[in-house]
Amino acid sequence: MRGLEGKVGVIAGGARGIGAATAERLCAEGAKVIIGDIMGDMALATAKRIAKSGGTVIGTYLDGTNAQSQKDIVALAVKEFGGLDFFHSNLAGGTGGDSDALEITEDVFDMSVAINTKSHLLATQAALPELLKRGGGAMIYTSSGSACAGAPVQPAYAMTKTAVHALARHVAAKWGPQGIRANVICPGLIMTEAVEMYLDDERRAGIMAATPSHRLGQPRDIAAAIAFLASEDGEFVNGQAWHVNGGKQMRE
Ligand SMILES: NC(=O)c1ccc[n+]([C@@H]2O[C@H](COP(=O)([O-])OP(=O)(O)OC[C@H]3O[C@@H](n4cnc5c(N)ncnc54)[C@H](O)[C@@H]3O)[C@@H](O)[C@H]2O)c1
Repeated sequence: MRGLEGKVGVIAGGARGIGAATAERLCAEGAKVIIGDIMGDMALATAKRIAKSGGTVIGTYLDGTNAQSQKDIVALAVKEFGGLDFFHSNLAGGTGGDSDALEITEDVFDMSVAINTKSHLLATQAALPELLKRGGGAMIYTSSGSACAGAPVQPAYAMTKTAVHALARHVAAKWGPQGIRANVICPGLIMTEAVEMYLDDERRAGIMAATPSHRLGQPRDIAAAIAFLASEDGEFVNGQAWHVNGGKQMRE
């Protein structure tokens, strides 16, 4: 892909799953990457593994719901690698207790807002000034097909993911003229460590049958789309939400 060699990026929520696969792909494209995660030890271990195969990468602790922590990870990118060219705001969580609109507690809802919405705003506030200093760059937010689906469970997850689309469009509209691109990736079901844990054979077969591309999604499928959006090949894509799901959910 064009224009990733030597570029500097942060992956927030990159210790495992989609974030880790994205770090691996971006490093393979020659980017320099900081992996941040609330599971700091795992972020370190993932960075170590990628560095072993030649990647330029640092793992560190990040609490994405904390403004100072987001500022710190951007400062680390600037200190270690000289600036910032893209920020992949990928972290998510807080789905325990996200039952339905009648049963969900305020605490569960507030936690979902903090992790799945506020963290993306804080990431934007931390990253944008540095991206602007470079004359532009990419914000890439991970949402979910759930944001557009309509499901009988997890209303907070769907609501808080949907909010990220509005944030990306705002960032694209306001700072696009200064070279900022802000886009959203909506993965379908992707076989990450977390998903593998609960998916039984019957569900697996059902999903495959309902997916026109006729296979299960892998973290590398999302990593490829994110690498494209971070690269110069993606320079005319702005303010969009991309669904990457093998056709299981078809959107305009
Ligand atoms: N895997 C799927 O099927 C799927 C489908 C749709 C959307 N997504 C989205 O893709 C993204 C990655 O998902 P994944 O499947 O790799 O999940 P994952 O749980 O493996 O990765 C999320 C990472 O975020 C980290 N994290 C959580 N809270 C944090 C915080 N406050 N600060 C810093 N890090 C924090 C976790 O420790 C974890 O490493 C998420 O945004 C998720 O909602 C995944």
